[in-house]
Amino acid sequence: MGHAEPQVKADLQPYWMPFSPNKEFKSEPKMFARAKGMYFYTPEGREVIDASSGLFCVAAGHCRPEIAQAVYEQLNTLDFTAPFLRAHPKAFELAQRVAEYTPAGLNRIFFTNSGSEAVDTAMKTALMFHRVRGQSQRQLFVSRERAYHGVNMGGVALAGMVNNRRAYGPGLAGVYHMRHTALPQNKFVRGQPEHGADLAEDLLRLCNLYGGENIAACFVEPTAGSFGCLPPPKGYLNRLRQICDDNGILLVFDEVITGWGRMAANFGAQAFGVTPDLLTMAKAITNGAQPMGALAARQDIYDTITEAGPKQGIEFFHGYTYSAHPAACAAGLAMMDIFREEKLIERAATLSPMFLDAMHSLADAPGVIDIRSFGMMAGIEVAAVGGPGAKGHVLQKALYDRGLHLKSTGDTLIVAPAFIAERKHIEEITSKVREALVALA
Ligand SMILES: Cc1ncc(COP(=O)(O)O)c(C=O)c1O
Repeated sequence: MGHAEPQVKADLQPYWMPFSPNKEFKSEPKMFARAKGMYFYTPEGREVIDASSGLFCVAAGHCRPEIAQAVYEQLNTLDFTAPFLRAHPKAFELAQRVAEYTPAGLNRIFFTNSGSEAVDTAMKTALMFHRVRGQSQRQLFVSRERAYHGVNMGGVALAGMVNNRRAYGPGLAGVYHMRHTALPQNKFVRGQPEHGADLAEDLLRLCNLYGGENIAACFVEPTAGSFGCLPPPKGYLNRLRQICDDNGILLVFDEVITGWGRMAANFGAQAFGVTPDLLTMAKAITNGAQPMGALAARQDIYDTITEAGPKQGIEFFHGYTYSAHPAACAAGLAMMDIFREEKLIERAATLSPMFLDAMHSLADAPGVIDIRSFGMMAGIEVAAVGGPGAKGHVLQKALYDRGLHLKSTGDTLIVAPAFIAERKHIEEITSKVREALVALA
């Protein structure tokens, strides 16, 4: 293609890769040297279509020049400023722009560098809010089986995926889990399943067991993402909202994946018509070009915490050296322009029916035992062969060899392309998934 690809010159051993089979990778590396639009390119120049927006981040397609330019200009203007006691204008501008998309009332924005940090920030916000209102007995948290809430110790305690928690002890004590909603009756459902709203009663059971007045917050992903796309049963989130209201519990939506158009609406909150009290986000806020996450809080939660603090002095003892980093804010603002000018979220909503048709057309492909989907995300589960995750592992390799990148969890493929995708891209993704499934049948 006449393009000099960056080559790998380094010893592969010193880099300890996250969430990766290090030994296997280093004996058989799968690298990307370049990306543009819907495609990655390997160091050898092979084209690989990106079916998972990198890792759910790159909603506007790879290597957007507007974002690169904004970051470059920012780093030449103000590269860094201490975020404690000092600030820079773009932090305020970005918070205002983000709050145009969040559900009504959730207009106070705390910046972090990742989704994991946003989750832990939400936990601390909930504890602080209750404490300053004289309810410091509210120290328990509720989450759900099969949940993923990042990898910091708070998020690990909330986690509902066994491999993410089994080695790390309880993390934070006092976290209780509701059952997941992956019911056998809900297989091959497109959109929200009919069955399972009653599983929200698990929250009430936990209130009855531990005392609702002791629970600080209930965390859920509106659609569980990392487990492999598990949309909420109809009525489920509404019922959680009601139980939280009845018991003074804060409802937190972890929208690190479901935010910014993935559910064919600004956030899952709007897609499912249920408004949480706190909402975490990260992926896609900068199109993946800079690390950034955020917590959106109800205005009165912010007001309560700040009003309760001393007249002069810090109200919330929490923050990161790189909170609202100038380069991340510049990238975020450039991405907000892309969302607005390209009507990217509307585009996701328009694209969704065609995408979902394509995904569900794989129902008859060899080995497929379930397909779950919502908006611009689908989970395709294949029958386990040789133990959980073994088939998924082989499938990953088969897909990569055919020029397709996607995220998988165990035996489930998670397809979540960028919203700039065209029909030909969706068709390429679908046919490569089918080819790999047929080849492994
Ligand atoms: C729902 C949810 N919460 C939190 C996180 C953690 O985000 P990060 O990897 O940016 O720390 C993720 C990551 O996939 C996620 O899906």
